[in-house]
Amino acid sequence: MSEASTDLTSLRVLIVGCGNIAGGFDLGRPSGYLPYTHAGAYSRDGRFNFAACVEPDDKRRSEFMASWGVPAGFRSIEEALGSGNQFDVLSICSPTDCHAHDLGMALRFRPKLIFCEKPLTTSAAETQRLVAECAQLNIPLAVNYTRRWDAEVLKLQADMQAGRWGELRSVVGYYNKGILNNGSHMVDLLHLLVGPMDVVKVGKPIEDFFANDPTVPVWLEGHQGVPVLLACGHAEDYAIFELQLVFSAGVLTMEEGGLFWRERRALASETFKGYRTLDAGVRRAGQYPSAMLKAVDNIYRAIKQGDPLASTGESALAAQCVCEQIKQNARQDAQDI
Ligand SMILES: NC(=O)c1ccc[n+]([C@@H]2O[C@H](COP(=O)([O-])OP(=O)(O)OC[C@H]3O[C@@H](n4cnc5c(N)ncnc54)[C@H](O)[C@@H]3O)[C@@H](O)[C@H]2O)c1
Repeated sequence: MSEASTDLTSLRVLIVGCGNIAGGFDLGRPSGYLPYTHAGAYSRDGRFNFAACVEPDDKRRSEFMASWGVPAGFRSIEEALGSGNQFDVLSICSPTDCHAHDLGMALRFRPKLIFCEKPLTTSAAETQRLVAECAQLNIPLAVNYTRRWDAEVLKLQADMQAGRWGELRSVVGYYNKGILNNGSHMVDLLHLLVGPMDVVKVGKPIEDFFANDPTVPVWLEGHQGVPVLLACGHAEDYAIFELQLVFSAGVLTMEEGGLFWRERRALASETFKGYRTLDAGVRRAGQYPSAMLKAVDNIYRAIKQGDPLASTGESALAAQCVCEQIKQNARQDAQDI
């Protein structure tokens, strides 16, 4: 399955954690698919060399090695470090509560870059410490808030900055499965599109997946008081990650996490003379499926020619700080009742 090149310019990769986002999501997909995983994207890109992987589960490790043509496998990141092998890129795809440890260990390899899954760690303080350590050691840290590499999102950012949708009136986001786990994806996306936001009020949290990471409804406020409301679905029902932006010129909705976008434009009403209304709109495919390929291309160019990373430790930390404040406010409100 691997198409990874082994020429001198290729980058040696160590993948830590061999589950879904490492490669599992892409197994069994039809040929020619656009990859959603680290292994899928590195393989398709062709400028990376899968040197080794770390996975404590023996069966999963050998299956991963066979599926992606990885020649070396280790039970732990300590074992990989002890092997004396060197790597250019470490991809951290272990469960979130392992990230702080794995990031600390990853730095000891002195790689050219670390690509870490989101959220970076389970606490903003720990994330801040590790982001600072990466900076101190001059090791670039890319974080997989994937939509920062989605061309559709970047076009929207440019359109908004150029005023092509007119004034932004309000935003509503829908998410589930944890304010840190998935809510941080939403806050990070909003930081990109809307900019910094204050937390105005939180609603009643629900525990729909993780015991220590509730899903919390929240009212945020962006630049010039633009209201941003995050409403919740329940993770047991279905996955939901959608964003609706109300502009003076129309309404734009990101659906299914960015797989689709729906555009409705304001026009003169045919029914009510003198009124303006929204048209029926069009639903079109988005460019989220290409985002992982763009991410690894950004990583390659960041290493080879010093390109800036689209998603960094700093931007991830900013999103995590907002999520942590939301969580704290929800906890505080529950105590006050
Ligand atoms: N960017 C995204 O959209 C996205 C999507 C899914 C998951 N994620 C993130 O990716 C991470 C992994 O999620 P997943 O769904 O792939 O989980 P998973 O459970 O499918 O995979 C995690 C793997 O890590 C292994 N593991 C456990 N402890 C380890 C350790 N100490 N060192 C190395 N490996 C270890 C597990 O055995 C498992 O195989 C999480 O942080 C999650 O938030 C991000």
